[in-house]
Amino acid sequence: MNHNTKEINKRRTFGIISHPDAGKTTLTEKLLLYGGAIQQAGAVKARKAERYATSDWMAIEKERGISVTTSVMKFNYRDFEINLLDTPGHQDFSEDTYRVLTAVDSALMVIDSAKGVEPQTEKLMEVCRMRNTPIITFINKLDRDGMSPIDILDDIEDKLQVECTPLSWPIGMGKNFNGVYNIYNKELHLFKAGQNKNISDGIIINDLSDSKLDDILGIQSDELREDIELIEGATDPFELDHYLNGTQTPVFFGSAVNNFGVKELLNTFVEMSPPPGPRAAVTREVSPYEEAFSGFAFKIQANMDPAHRDRIAFLRICSGKFTRGMKVLHHRLGKIVTFANATIFMANERENVSEAYPGDIIGIHNHGTIKIGDTFSEKEPLKFCGIPNFAPEFFRKVILKNPMKAKHLHKGLTQLAEEGVIQVFRPVATNDYILGAVGILQFDITMARLETEYGVAAVYEPSQYNVARWIECDDPKKMDDFEKNNKNNLARDAEGAKAFLTTSEWQLEYGMEHWPGIEFYKTRENN
Ligand code: G4P
Repeated sequence: MNHNTKEINKRRTFGIISHPDAGKTTLTEKLLLYGGAIQQAGAVKARKAERYATSDWMAIEKERGISVTTSVMKFNYRDFEINLLDTPGHQDFSEDTYRVLTAVDSALMVIDSAKGVEPQTEKLMEVCRMRNTPIITFINKLDRDGMSPIDILDDIEDKLQVECTPLSWPIGMGKNFNGVYNIYNKELHLFKAGQNKNISDGIIINDLSDSKLDDILGIQSDELREDIELIEGATDPFELDHYLNGTQTPVFFGSAVNNFGVKELLNTFVEMSPPPGPRAAVTREVSPYEEAFSGFAFKIQANMDPAHRDRIAFLRICSGKFTRGMKVLHHRLGKIVTFANATIFMANERENVSEAYPGDIIGIHNHGTIKIGDTFSEKEPLKFCGIPNFAPEFFRKVILKNPMKAKHLHKGLTQLAEEGVIQVFRPVATNDYILGAVGILQFDITMARLETEYGVAAVYEPSQYNVARWIECDDPKKMDDFEKNNKNNLARDAEGAKAFLTTSEWQLEYGMEHWPGIEFYKTRENN
């Protein structure tokens, strides 16, 4: 047993995946209230409102302190230390949102019961699937009329290709929403609108044929009996292993805004969800229980104040113990660096941290020496895998206003690409700068930072490209042939990797069909 075992086992590091407006902010707030991390409902909501009250990026940046602290919300619940990582989702949806999911051990998926699975959830789920991240599902807004619960489960299974196993079941919905029956604990939780809490600790109903149920639920008792019989026949029983390997998602129903079903969700979450797990590095798998420290950067946040050109790199600790002032190897630079100061992010404040454990996220100040995916280790040189770039979905061409600033533009874009702010492609045929992003705010940020940090004035033009894939091939001759025949679609990214840019999905598919042997990738890992 390692010295840190106790600390590791009580940590839970997770993110919430959802489509905007499904109730992520509301749920986060309730979770933080249970954790005692905030005292008053409305605190997280107010921050969200501040963040979206303006579309002016620079103004948003003035609130930077706020957005940094909300990137990681650490709170305690029962005996657990929980790190909730924010997955930016509205206008600020970006590659960061995807990359946050490479740093978690599990996820909560929030689905609006009226809408079912929506596009952003599908995209985030794709990222979860890359590492088989275990997911617990919360179907929200049962106090409103929505899709039938069975249809929602079908929708999830269909669109997300994950088996659903309901651990609770709603009784009615909308005006007739009366509560949930917890299938797992055989407990009935009754709902009263506006009560804003789980109304009781639950009424134990070991046998659904018990007439007590009729006294409590009236005609809804028979509906519940039928529903439970139906789902017991139609869905697979819960298997912890299947949840842990990401093939099955336990499902809960409730109403975040009424704080109904949230406590049950949180209790189940801390009990079932995995503590920090092992992590693949290029040379081997690293266990969190190893004594030597290791961690990787998954997000970089710059300070827009020109007087403070520092950046905060968010590091996920993978093994060992972090102590302030420790010396670690910066794998990519091959240099020993000292972590003089690290910040740990509490839900309501930032604190200087003197020690931290696997699963924790620490913020390291630096002046641009840390890139996304960089690994830090105490002894052995390590390079963690699984922190990729994601194929952009939006593209812009950069037009420099002052040609004398070409070098500055190049430097600025190279550095911003390293920080993961934007992706940069240079088409082989034209040598233009084509920027790629998964969220369009990334373009505004890039432009604002080019101007303030690199003194570059530029504008965007629409790009002819709409799709990008990284390409590889084992056979150099075939790659050569492909390149000769597709000159107008070839580009290099900021790291020099080859990419295939097309005007449409159709053109991509055509290319894929005609060039068997060429591999087209939606993600690419930094070296
Ligand atoms: P998000 O972070 O996923 O974007 O969603 P958020 O929590 O902001 O919730 C989006 C809207 O859905 C909010 O309403 C919120 O109050 C509402 N909501 C969340 N949970 C529930 C629920 O269980 N039942 C119902 N009926 N509504 C819910 P809004 O009108 O946009 O904001 P506000 O007026 O409440 O501030």
